[in-house]
Amino acid sequence: MGRGRFVGATAGGLLLIAAAGLPAVNSLGAEPQPPFTPAERAAIGSLALAALPPLPADPTNRFADDPAAAALGATLFFDQRLSANGKVACATCHKIDRQFQDDLPLGEGLGTANRRTMPLAGAAWKRWFFWDGRKDSLWSQALSPLENAAEQAGNRKAQVGTGERSEKIRTYNFPQDRVTDHRVKVTKNGLPAILAGDLDDFTAALEADEKRRKLEQASVGAG
Ligand code: HEC
Repeated sequence: MGRGRFVGATAGGLLLIAAAGLPAVNSLGAEPQPPFTPAERAAIGSLALAALPPLPADPTNRFADDPAAAALGATLFFDQRLSANGKVACATCHKIDRQFQDDLPLGEGLGTANRRTMPLAGAAWKRWFFWDGRKDSLWSQALSPLENAAEQAGNRKAQVGTGERSEKIRTYNFPQDRVTDHRVKVTKNGLPAILAGDLDDFTAALEADEKRRKLEQASVGAG
């Protein structure tokens, strides 16, 4: 998103408020604001996010238009587990109720970033990313904060794992009609039902495990 587009969207929002019948007077009750001419309104409207064209295809990202991938990305945006201390997510700095920025002079994650957090509205339409334009696609941009020491300070090896059996999350054994969740060591037969969504035994065990770990952490913290 260009700066202009964001400013445009804000101005568009103000116009909507004006159109809703609120008097165009500032809070001090001083001079009324000069009205916009139709040409000015059109110019401001042309800068609104809603006026952007459909996104062009991204030849460097075959998942770009996959709604499931977009849903996963939206989930990960809020997932603190991808940070070294389990407390920082993208949304820690890119606050959804602050136009995806944080009002701070420098972003604060595990450390202090050396630049200001950028607002993200309309980011998909941008050609270059970061203040200095050092990234040319959203996917390559998103790889940086996860490992940047001042942001999430994660480590891709820790996130992906080694592929050892003990590291696997869940194994689907088709010949033996069996599913094992390695995190909680639960095994169940009846693959078709499980694949159709019968995951209750697994989620119950995962929930119990999560609760146990939280209690453990809390008691460590207290001691
Ligand atoms: C510690 C705070 C922090 C965290 C956590 C963080 N960011 Fe950022 N983000 C920043 C800062 C600071 C910049 C500007 C950095 C620069 O220009 O060098 C930025 C820039 C960006 C940009 C570029 C926007 C543009 O207009 O060019 C995108 C996109 C972005 N972040 C997405 C993400 C995503 C996705 C995550 C999570 C994987 C994330 N950020 C995590 C602070 C953060």
